[in-house]
Amino acid sequence: MELALYCPKTGYYERFRESVGRRGDFVTSVSVGDLFGRFLAAQFASWCEEFSGPVRWVEAGAHDGQLACDLLGAVRDRHPGIFERISYILVEPSETRRAWQQSTLKAYGNPVRWVNSLADLQADGVTGVIFSNELIDAFPIHRLGWDSVRRRWFEWGVGLDGEQFVWQRMLDSAFRCEEALERAGFVLPSELCAVLPDGYILEVSPEAGDWWRDAAKMLRRGRLCTIDYGMLAEQFLTPERRDGTLRSYRRQSVGNDLLATPGEQDLTAHVNFTQLIREGENAGLKTEAFVSQPEFLSSIARRVWTDFNPPSGPEIRQFQALTHPEHLGRAFRVLVQSRLA
Ligand SMILES: C[S@@+](CC[C@H](N)C(=O)[O-])C[C@H]1O[C@@H](n2cnc3c(N)ncnc32)[C@H](O)[C@@H]1O
Repeated sequence: MELALYCPKTGYYERFRESVGRRGDFVTSVSVGDLFGRFLAAQFASWCEEFSGPVRWVEAGAHDGQLACDLLGAVRDRHPGIFERISYILVEPSETRRAWQQSTLKAYGNPVRWVNSLADLQADGVTGVIFSNELIDAFPIHRLGWDSVRRRWFEWGVGLDGEQFVWQRMLDSAFRCEEALERAGFVLPSELCAVLPDGYILEVSPEAGDWWRDAAKMLRRGRLCTIDYGMLAEQFLTPERRDGTLRSYRRQSVGNDLLATPGEQDLTAHVNFTQLIREGENAGLKTEAFVSQPEFLSSIARRVWTDFNPPSGPEIRQFQALTHPEHLGRAFRVLVQSRLA
């Protein structure tokens, strides 16, 4: 999955700037329009009003930089006092994507800068907000299967049969499945395992947990916030999820072959928010909110839209797309953790 998405030559996210958006393979809240960025700007600005001095807004997974552009535009126009205090930092390990972001953000100049990884922020840490939209679902996962005869988990690997990629059980994999599941917050008592169907699939992403822990440690004061589709660990254990949540996307539809055309389709799995909540709390953060995207955006709308500042028709249409269960309102969750003392 890592090679298919991030190989510098052939990886999906290295090749297609236009993958996100109506003309691409999938739509995100950012591609609906600038309302999402404007609402996040209002929320982040109000968080940053709680303290004085310079603040950092750190975004990871910025892709072509469109969310950064929407946020910076909104904060400059509507919260100039905060704009003066911001340095906007994009965490971007890829040279290619950094070039896309630089072209999108060239109008903003000084307050914007780039780092390769969170570790580059170590010296001063972050006072402000570290955030991402649809980053964690793009981290590589391990795909685990339940062997009901041996009563243990095994890892699925990818093998080659002639010219075809095929799924293969890796019975001698060094990956410690049970340990990884426990660390990710899956509780699998023997009574549950006794009735778990053979081949039941769960995905784990130790990389996601590590990333969140590193981000939590980097936060000196402020909020760590992510928006993504996913659920709590126990919600992965339901009959309709027996095949797991790993999916491929191409041209706005879910693909039926995860191993087809690597590098030409997106691969993504639901985020296990229990894992993130735990990692953040273990690093000393407090969980402030874990809510649906409609709840989160509605609470901002109640403050931004008033009798004196009612929404326009296009704004209402964007809001509906972001919150309606048939669009982006059903699966998306917002996790906010903080360190305020
Ligand atoms: C699904 S796209 C989301 C794009 C954008 N945030 C949006 O909402 O439209 C996920 C992005 O995360 C990037 N990404 C994956 N791992 C990353 C990492 N460790 N650091 C920064 N970006 C990463 C991918 O390359 C891709 O551009």
